[in-house]
Amino acid sequence: MPAVVVLGAQWGDEGKGKATDQLGSRTDYVVKFNGGNNAGHTVVIDGEKYALHLLPSGILSPGVVPVIGNGVVVDIEVLFEEIDALEARGVDTSALKVSSAAHVIAPYNRTLDKVTERFLGKRRIGTTGRGIGPAYSDKINRVGIRIQDLFDEKILHEKVEGALDQKNHLLVKVYNRRAITVEETVEDLLRHADRLKPLVADTPLLLNNALDAGKTLVFEAGQATMLDVDHGTYPFVTSSSATAGGACTGSGVGPTRIDRVVAVAKAYTTRVGEGPFPTELLDDDGEWLRQTGGEFGTTTGRPRRCGWYDAVVVRYASRINGLTDLVVTKLDVLTGKDKIPVAVAYDVNGRRFDEMPDDQSDFHHATPIYEYLDGWTQDISQAREFDDLPVNAQRYLLRLEEISGARISSIGVGPGREATIIRHELLS
Ligand code: GDP
Ligand code: IMO
Ligand code: MG
Repeated sequence: MPAVVVLGAQWGDEGKGKATDQLGSRTDYVVKFNGGNNAGHTVVIDGEKYALHLLPSGILSPGVVPVIGNGVVVDIEVLFEEIDALEARGVDTSALKVSSAAHVIAPYNRTLDKVTERFLGKRRIGTTGRGIGPAYSDKINRVGIRIQDLFDEKILHEKVEGALDQKNHLLVKVYNRRAITVEETVEDLLRHADRLKPLVADTPLLLNNALDAGKTLVFEAGQATMLDVDHGTYPFVTSSSATAGGACTGSGVGPTRIDRVVAVAKAYTTRVGEGPFPTELLDDDGEWLRQTGGEFGTTTGRPRRCGWYDAVVVRYASRINGLTDLVVTKLDVLTGKDKIPVAVAYDVNGRRFDEMPDDQSDFHHATPIYEYLDGWTQDISQAREFDDLPVNAQRYLLRLEEISGARISSIGVGPGREATIIRHELLS
């Protein structure tokens, strides 16, 4: 029985939620291992749309145990808002488990995310404003609050005091904001503690026991390779490990237990927030992709920046993650284009780069070298086999496969669960 990691190959919003959901009916556990409610994973089941932020997409499949791993940062208010919204729609969330070692997003983390961005001005990252970066900073700085701290009020009090010590100086003296009190923070954090307690578990033990018992596990990443704090376009990244290694550290499962690493990539590219994006289109084609693909953020509603497929990026993701499979989504969006450009390499001031430049300045100045592939006009949304696709769509995929570093195992031709072509089973 396999353990499979599903992650993003580009800058997020590739369709990881749909890919995870599709494995849901044949999975025992779905584990979120990084990020928090900065994620926005949309799943469409029988025409019903679900937008998940903090909860793993596996929560929509009956019988699956959804797990929030130790690598996640948890906004407790959001956790229960999301649970209540799903329960109101008839989704059973009672199997959810939350790691006792996961960190909490405290109210001051949210405040600091917003004021820091404002302070940065044109150097801002364009964060989701959910307190993600500050919560991970506290974790690394060893002043974070963990889920287990909520069940010992004395310890919680001490930790909040320690965390606020420096932050209040910063808030008052640098950002000209009011100081935050320990009492208001503790009260806020404890609001849902009783409700949270039964969900809390030693999730590394739970997951390793599940593997010993031959269960199937899917590890669902938030964000993506190019937003990874180590391997992404730093500093325009999120603050967690969104790559394959993060699935291990963020869940307490060793690398020898992972069987497959699957990356999801759009048939083109999008990005939300600031930072370099070589194939970005600032013209009518970009607007066409945005409108046709419905490229507006699930979390913040921001219009996504759009561009052509960048094989240098996906090859890089193949290398960094040790990919076994690729899932290519939103192929249907490209229907109707006469010629489809695909970036195969970059030009940086007259120098050709076939692989991702190591130096961020080179990446900032990279101009794509395009190959132009023939498009198709037929509606492909009903295709369920590779051979159902028009020959030019098949050629497009085969060329992507050749230049992207991993085999294409699944192809998305629409947002619905059923709108998928499977070439190779991901859970065998
Ligand atoms: P995630 O963050 O990686 O889970 O992706 P998002 O949910 O933020 O964004 C992907 C969007 O594309 C969602 O609105 C999905 O419903 C939609 N989607 C996923 N796969 C396909 C596909 O193959 N075709 C089309 N047209 N839409 C898709
Ligand atoms: P999913 O899981 C796309 C981006 C933000 C910003 C940067 C840092 O849906 O693919 P943060 O709030 O994390 O500190 O913001 O990362 N970002 C995402 N972009 N999809 C996401 O998640 C993202 N999560 C964060 O826009 O540029
Ligand atoms: Mg998303």
